[in-house]
Amino acid sequence: MDFFRNLFSIFSKKSESVLGIDIGSSAIKVVQIKKKRGRAVLETYGELALGPYSGLEVGRATSLSNEKIIEALKDILREAKTTTSFAGVALPLSSSLVTFITVPVVPEKQMQEVISLEARKYIPVPMSEVVVDYSPIPKEETYAADDDDQEKQVEKKTQDYLVVAIHNEYINNYQVISSGSAIQPSFYEIELFSSIRSVVEQGIQAVMIIDMGARITKLYIVERGILRAAHIINRGGQDITLAISKSLSVSVNEAENLKRLYGLNGGPEYKELTEIITINLDYVFYEANATMLNYQRKYSKNVSKVILTGGGVLLKGFTELAKVSFQTEIEYADPFSRLETPAFFSQQLTSAGPEFAVAIGCALRRLSEAD
Ligand SMILES: Nc1ncnc2c1ncn2[C@@H]1O[C@H](COP(=O)(O)OP(=O)(O)OP(=O)(O)O)[C@@H](O)[C@H]1O
Ligand SMILES: [Mg+2]
Repeated sequence: MDFFRNLFSIFSKKSESVLGIDIGSSAIKVVQIKKKRGRAVLETYGELALGPYSGLEVGRATSLSNEKIIEALKDILREAKTTTSFAGVALPLSSSLVTFITVPVVPEKQMQEVISLEARKYIPVPMSEVVVDYSPIPKEETYAADDDDQEKQVEKKTQDYLVVAIHNEYINNYQVISSGSAIQPSFYEIELFSSIRSVVEQGIQAVMIIDMGARITKLYIVERGILRAAHIINRGGQDITLAISKSLSVSVNEAENLKRLYGLNGGPEYKELTEIITINLDYVFYEANATMLNYQRKYSKNVSKVILTGGGVLLKGFTELAKVSFQTEIEYADPFSRLETPAFFSQQLTSAGPEFAVAIGCALRRLSEAD
């Protein structure tokens, strides 16, 4: 989706290297890539926990002021030794409203008006306060049109659209953050489109992306590369840590360390830890399964694969538990595989991959713009 391409595409100058930046609620992730012999090459990457910038523990979700985010972003750019200011920046899903509408097909000239009218029903603030973008969802050509079939006749005369609205305030904030940290984004893109770019292979089958962050878990169903459903589960990695801290009467820091060190693989000695984590993940998997079933029922289609992204899925034993909970193939996202990377790094990059899906997706789009 060409979100904001026209609004913010101000750089025509070719740049060697580009950044992808993902400011999550609990951590900033950055990657720097460049093009070499037609391939995207990883130059540097880094991650920085935001908790400490607001007096919270590592792994905690934050709501930081622009000033604090600027401070943190400058810190991680320095730490990762990035060398360019050209960037693509992800916007959190929570800053936007993503919805699907069906409108009657009318002559091209009136289409925009019809879409605006319909979209307005879903946007709870005055249209002057938001930037709206939309894109048609192509119809499938899998069946021959049957003139006697009433339902299909109706279907032909309507068109589905994906509509995305972002409040001006978020864009203003991101512009302040960008100029304050001396980066030059050519676009701001809602994180889900970045993830789709970096983790979904081309193909016709529907897949579900799970992005488990600190506060929430996001679910996206993608078919033929197009977003078909988005859903939020109000539980994330932070909830697991807080539950561990409470049940085992340990500090939040200790709980986070235990979670990261053992995850679900602590064995008999950490039986209680395993139980607490399992209860929380079961909830997430239950909700994700419900979303998937809903989609399958509505469109009579199967979701063929679940792709795991976000820091939460780095938990030891997560993939194995997911394999038990879902009836589909489970894939631990490997967005670094889209890049040329040093061989001696490959294991480290494979395990960190899910955390960097958004940042890599942004960088890849920025790199393609530099062509
Ligand atoms: N090795 C690990 N094992 C278990 N959990 C982990 C590990 N590494 C990170 N996490 C958890 O992942 C969560 C953060 O994930 P991520 O960085 O994707 O979130 P975010 O992008 O900041 O959040 P959001 O996308 O919701 O804004 C934290 O709750 C953290 O505890
Ligand atoms: Mg995130």
